Amino acid sequence: MPSTPSGPGGPLFKYAPAPMGESADDRWRRYKRALGAEPLPAALVDLEAFEANARDLFGQARAAGKTLRIASKSIRCPDLLRRLFALGGATARGLMTYHARESAFLAELGFDDLLLAYPTVQRSDLEALVGLAKAGKTVSQVVDEPDHLEALEAAGATAGVKAKVVIEVDMSFRPAGAAHLGVRRSPLRSAADALAFAKAIAARPHLQLHGVMTYEAQIAGVTDRNPFTRLLNLPKRTIKLLSRGDVESRRGEVAKALQAAGFKLALFNGGGTGSIGWSSSDSALTEVTAGSGFLDSQLFDYYRDLQLTAAGYFAVQVVRRPKPGMVTCHGGGLIASGEAGVDRLPVPALPAGSRLVGFEGAGEVQTPVVLPAGTEVALGEPIFFRHAKAGELAEHFNEYLLVRGDRVETRVPTYRGQGKVFLG
Ligand SMILES: Cc1ncc(COP(=O)(O)O)c(C=O)c1O
Repeated sequence: MPSTPSGPGGPLFKYAPAPMGESADDRWRRYKRALGAEPLPAALVDLEAFEANARDLFGQARAAGKTLRIASKSIRCPDLLRRLFALGGATARGLMTYHARESAFLAELGFDDLLLAYPTVQRSDLEALVGLAKAGKTVSQVVDEPDHLEALEAAGATAGVKAKVVIEVDMSFRPAGAAHLGVRRSPLRSAADALAFAKAIAARPHLQLHGVMTYEAQIAGVTDRNPFTRLLNLPKRTIKLLSRGDVESRRGEVAKALQAAGFKLALFNGGGTGSIGWSSSDSALTEVTAGSGFLDSQLFDYYRDLQLTAAGYFAVQVVRRPKPGMVTCHGGGLIASGEAGVDRLPVPALPAGSRLVGFEGAGEVQTPVVLPAGTEVALGEPIFFRHAKAGELAEHFNEYLLVRGDRVETRVPTYRGQGKVFLG
């Protein structure tokens, strides 16, 4: 059995199962062989794990009769996106993008059905989007307020096209109307809100209602067996469970209201990696979204219902030995976004049982790591870390080394490697 790796506070969380029952030690040796004399730091993707995750996630959507939209923000590497479409077959339906220029970049590479999930009113962005529509691409943008419509209507009129829009309805949970549990994005909450907004869209000659998006962040994006905040796990599970009924009924009401008013939707989207099983069973949805689960970044170890396999790692070299049982790595401090906390730190995953040092965490140029008893790592050898979030890893590397077995099968550029950094 593989040993349990550790966070800053000691042995804390499960070790994501290796493909084909491989032990963590075997995996560590295999990745070392694969990297050979590769200059470090380097980022690698274990193709067998990536493919197993794709089978799992596409499989769950397919079994429930849904298509799956791939969240590009959680991949940020065109080659991996292509592989996912090949693996998903007819179940893979389009991309959920995070920037208008990214939609344009991906369209240029041949991708289609691009849903920009985060609104923009910047003129250059809107021009790019309507330009894609004019060129015959299926592009849409999430909207939730009149100013979004006005800006897009103007761009559509100038280009002489109808811009496709997707209404985002807020699915956050507000028990007793007091707390707001979920993300702060759309002000539209009810079926009546969605219907009134759909009518405002229909009144604009250069807009076309394409669909509805209903991301339930308080279910899909909230860990529920987080070793760093143990006391919160039960309350979080309870809120997730309680919120399900509310999400389901409001989604159903929105779908019914729009249908009764004669609106025909090309898509009704919801879900994320963290809710893939439950979201797939929601009859109001035509499609679910997933992204992070393909690489299975560290945070997704902290979900009770997921059985994914770690596929994305970065390797840094050991350069110092401050004392027996401890090494210091060159680099390592790739911290994730979101609510600040210990779970945003990268985790030294291999050799399994390694852990960060509480006082230092993961540093910008040096990261000390306590090794498991009896394990030695020579100077120059790699320690393999996992990033807390899947897409952000790609912002730190120009290329991913795609590993199969104990060799690098190929190397592929990330967005960054293609000179594309969309969020600065
Ligand atoms: C709109 C939307 N849908 C779905 C997701 C889920 O993405 P992932 O599967 O990478 O967690 C996100 C993540 O933030 C999102 O913003």
